Amino acid sequence: MNNAKRRTVIAGNWKMNFTPAEATAFINEIKPMVAGKDNCDIIFCAPYVTIAAAQAAAEGSNIKIGAENVHFAESGAYTGEVSAKMLTACGVEYVIIGHSERRQYFGETDETVNKRTLAALAAGMKVILCLGEVKEQRLAGITREIVSMQTKLDLAGVSAEDMKNIIIAYEPVWAIGTGLTATPEQAEETCGQIREVLVELYGKDVAEATTIQYGGSMNDKNAAELLSKPNVDGGLIGGASLVASKFTAIVDAAQ
Ligand code: PGA
Repeated sequence: MNNAKRRTVIAGNWKMNFTPAEATAFINEIKPMVAGKDNCDIIFCAPYVTIAAAQAAAEGSNIKIGAENVHFAESGAYTGEVSAKMLTACGVEYVIIGHSERRQYFGETDETVNKRTLAALAAGMKVILCLGEVKEQRLAGITREIVSMQTKLDLAGVSAEDMKNIIIAYEPVWAIGTGLTATPEQAEETCGQIREVLVELYGKDVAEATTIQYGGSMNDKNAAELLSKPNVDGGLIGGASLVASKFTAIVDAAQ
């Protein structure tokens, strides 16, 4: 973390968990636990149908509610999809784009991730852009090349000005939901490599101001060490974002 230059963001990714009633109960439970902890932004990204309940429960608190995906078109024949215009109409500011589960199970490519990102930015949203290597790529020693390529392709057409609305989540795919966490050194190294790509694309000032999170089995036990690294500016948290005490411990580690 490097609080002087950029904001620390601790974001939960609920994935396909929590009904509206469960989300309400969860937010009501965690709200007092994170109250006043303002050294980081706290966001929970929720399934579409759960967003309104979570927002209502979070009202007046330091918790923000985001979405887990967004389509690139404004409207039209895209069954099952939701547009940025719809999300902003519902008061949703943050959206995850390019999560590896979307890439793996739903055919998302760097091209569609880029289109979704541009659409979300055009609608005034803030994007948590996920990228990261799979296990074979890490073993082959090409992590740097992979994240560099993803960063460039996913951000194609994103202006330096728009970068203030981009958070990058570095998520090694082999660490997501597996209990295998990148070591703090691995997280630091790859987040630093992503920042070098941002220097190349946008210059030092923008690169230094961009929040780069680590994600992949971050939890109450390993968060403090991961977050102590200078290029790790927060976390995108799956499993541990469903348990109030664990998530709060991560927020505490970021204080
Ligand atoms: P995990 O998920 O914390 O359960 O590994 C992280 C993510 O998918 O964003």
